[in-house]
Amino acid sequence: MPDPTARYAAPIRWGILGTGVIAAEFAKALALVNNGVLLGVGSRNQASADQFAQTYGAAHAYGNYAGLVNDPDIDVIYIATPHTAHFANTLLCLKAGKAVLCEKPFALNTAQVTQMVARARQAEVFLMEAMWMRFIPLIAELQKRIDAGVIGEVRMIQADFGFRAPFDPRSRLFDPKLAGGALLDIGIYPLAFAALLLGEPEDIASLASLGTTGVDEQSGYLLRHKGGALSVLASALRTQTSMSAWVYGTRGRIHLPKQFWRGQELIIYRTDNRTKQEPERVHKPYPGNGYQFEAQEVIDCLLAGKTESVTMPLDESIALMRTMDRIRGQWNLSFPAEQITDLN
Ligand SMILES: NC(=O)c1ccc[n+]([C@@H]2O[C@H](COP(=O)([O-])OP(=O)(O)OC[C@H]3O[C@@H](n4cnc5c(N)ncnc54)[C@H](OP(=O)(O)O)[C@@H]3O)[C@@H](O)[C@H]2O)c1
Repeated sequence: MPDPTARYAAPIRWGILGTGVIAAEFAKALALVNNGVLLGVGSRNQASADQFAQTYGAAHAYGNYAGLVNDPDIDVIYIATPHTAHFANTLLCLKAGKAVLCEKPFALNTAQVTQMVARARQAEVFLMEAMWMRFIPLIAELQKRIDAGVIGEVRMIQADFGFRAPFDPRSRLFDPKLAGGALLDIGIYPLAFAALLLGEPEDIASLASLGTTGVDEQSGYLLRHKGGALSVLASALRTQTSMSAWVYGTRGRIHLPKQFWRGQELIIYRTDNRTKQEPERVHKPYPGNGYQFEAQEVIDCLLAGKTESVTMPLDESIALMRTMDRIRGQWNLSFPAEQITDLN
């Protein structure tokens, strides 16, 4: 029997805000969820909205974001715009009472993120950062194995995310007006990975190579966590890196090969006894592009009446942004759009 007092009922009806690269991937992933359906899309222009709606089977197409946000049939909005728009777009949705899944980075700085979180909590509306790595089955398996002590106490993490993007000063990757740079776009993955296993760092040392547009084309982060564990992390927009992660413990180590944030296999090497042991390979295959798991989390939370995910809590998003603020502070790198911290 459906609960007549419940705020949401299955299927949860999704709207997608923005029609770019990740919006399309997310639309494909929605075809794999339970109790969820793509209903609407909002774009800055009607032709893009119509095209997207036709391609992915959305019944409602709006040529502006306000139309989508005010659609009474939409339950939750996935924000797929550039970093610089996340703050304003999230507040727009929350104001209209819509639940929100917002792309990473959640916004540009801690001041913006804390405001988003405060608004959501005040309005008792669901909000989550789309840190999809957290919901990949292999990552849950990794946590389970580490909690069970398979490699002992974690003492060190190495992880990197780097690829060679074609240089285009006007693209969102390189343009400071769109808060470009490796840190916010992809450095956030190794940082979130380290935070997941070792918590918010106590001390940070970092260096960046700033390119001609003034944003970090590559950067490295050395974190010390409570108890002395270290994370050695890097990200790059003009250098292809291994895109893998290693977790080193007192009794062994775990390798997550390329691409560690969305992997399907990990390898455990035990070093705690003298007899040579074969590495253990753990497989967690999944269909599709992997974005279905974060979408499923949102759906399950809404149907359970939750306003926050336990797996990707809002305090975790604030802490992650605090770490990135500290890192950028060490480089004196700021973006024009981060001055916006109050839209009312
Ligand atoms: N989770 C992941 O794996 C993943 C992967 C890629 C990107 N992302 C994140 O998703 C966000 C979007 O990335 P993307 O690669 O999808 O970007 P994109 O292809 O450039 O798409 C962004 C969309 O946002 C809308 N938009 C609103 N204001 C804009 C502006 N000033 N300039 C350009 N577009 C604007 C546009 O849609 P309309 O014209 O329809 O309004 C555009 O198509 C970023 O924050 C990024 O970090 C996440």
